[in-house]
Amino acid sequence: MKATTMTDGIYRLGINLENNQLFEGMWPMPDGISINSYVVSGEKTAIIDLTEDVDDKPAQFERELASIPLKATDVDYLIINHMEPDHTSWLPAFYKKNPDLEFFITEKGAGVLKAFCGIDQNIHIVKTGDTLDLGRGKVLTFYEAPNLHWPETMFTYERSSGILFSCDAFGSYGTIEDIIFDDQLSSEQHDFFMREALRYYANIIGGLSMFVSKAVAAIQDLDIKMVAPSHGIVWRENPMAIISAYERFAGYMNGPAEPEITVLWSSMYGNTQKVVSAMVQGVRAQGLPVHIHRVPEDHVGFILESAWKSAGLIIGMPTYEYRMFPPMAWVLDMFGRKKVWNKQVLRFGSFGWSGGAQRELDTLTEKLKWQFVEPVEWQGRPDDEVLAIARSRAEELAKIIKAGS
Ligand code: FEO
Repeated sequence: MKATTMTDGIYRLGINLENNQLFEGMWPMPDGISINSYVVSGEKTAIIDLTEDVDDKPAQFERELASIPLKATDVDYLIINHMEPDHTSWLPAFYKKNPDLEFFITEKGAGVLKAFCGIDQNIHIVKTGDTLDLGRGKVLTFYEAPNLHWPETMFTYERSSGILFSCDAFGSYGTIEDIIFDDQLSSEQHDFFMREALRYYANIIGGLSMFVSKAVAAIQDLDIKMVAPSHGIVWRENPMAIISAYERFAGYMNGPAEPEITVLWSSMYGNTQKVVSAMVQGVRAQGLPVHIHRVPEDHVGFILESAWKSAGLIIGMPTYEYRMFPPMAWVLDMFGRKKVWNKQVLRFGSFGWSGGAQRELDTLTEKLKWQFVEPVEWQGRPDDEVLAIARSRAEELAKIIKAGS
């Protein structure tokens, strides 16, 4: 692939991580992910964010750089918006090719740069409002964006083009081939990247949602003509579409989210499974969309996407040795870590000789600000009465969500 010209003197380079890899070592990516970098050339040349040292990706990166044409020694400055290794693991090797390279990074980032890359020279510490004039009208301005995604993160804005280089923020899953701009996408492709933005958000950013509005406030006076994240497409036709989407996703944490219900269920011998259909019927009777995931068969990365945007959760699991079914406990622990807060919730499940799952669920989720509808529990097999109660409670939950939306 060649670098793509975004505007005079500004280029996008990128590699793709394929779908056989787990992002951050745990999140499935059925359609992969891109890692984008950007070159801004005036009299001096800067690269904004680098790439990951995996397989043949650095060689691909260098071929794209050569298509501009540039080589490592032509680069004067490296702008490090974010130190996570998907953007920096190739940095030590790149620095060896060009020992005159100068780094622009936040104060916190400099500590992480030393820890991850062993680099503590040629460093310029920047803070919000600091600028770097590259000449020929290209001026970079830096904006600290703590916790999007790490505490050291910043955005970089290029004034003449109005491009915001936002690193992880406003990113999405999905590989990028020839098409890099939103206005080049079909409506299906556009929908795809919006969906993948939500799943990426729920997996990577969700637990840090309280920092999204602060970051957006910090850049609200900028004339943003393009949003150029480090993952996913460049938003050129409608840059506010992805910024607004991220604000909406962040708002889900405080509730209410979308008037939809996610059903996640586990079953050992089929007795809890027999009630899933009744629950789904109850939700559908009220006309709400429903997303269904079986635990542990479905990966938590996908469950998080559904749960994050749903105002309601229906959690089905049997009691297991006086406590929650362990695979579901693991998923709910992840909900806590990722701050799946402010949901309307209904639990159902069978028990063998004693209950106990609800008690542990109440304890595990007491910090998540969940409101519970009365649970549906039964011993052994569910009979018709249990099925009728289940349908009715699911409808009750759906009505609560409709009333709150
Ligand atoms: Fe794309 Fe937080 O790294």
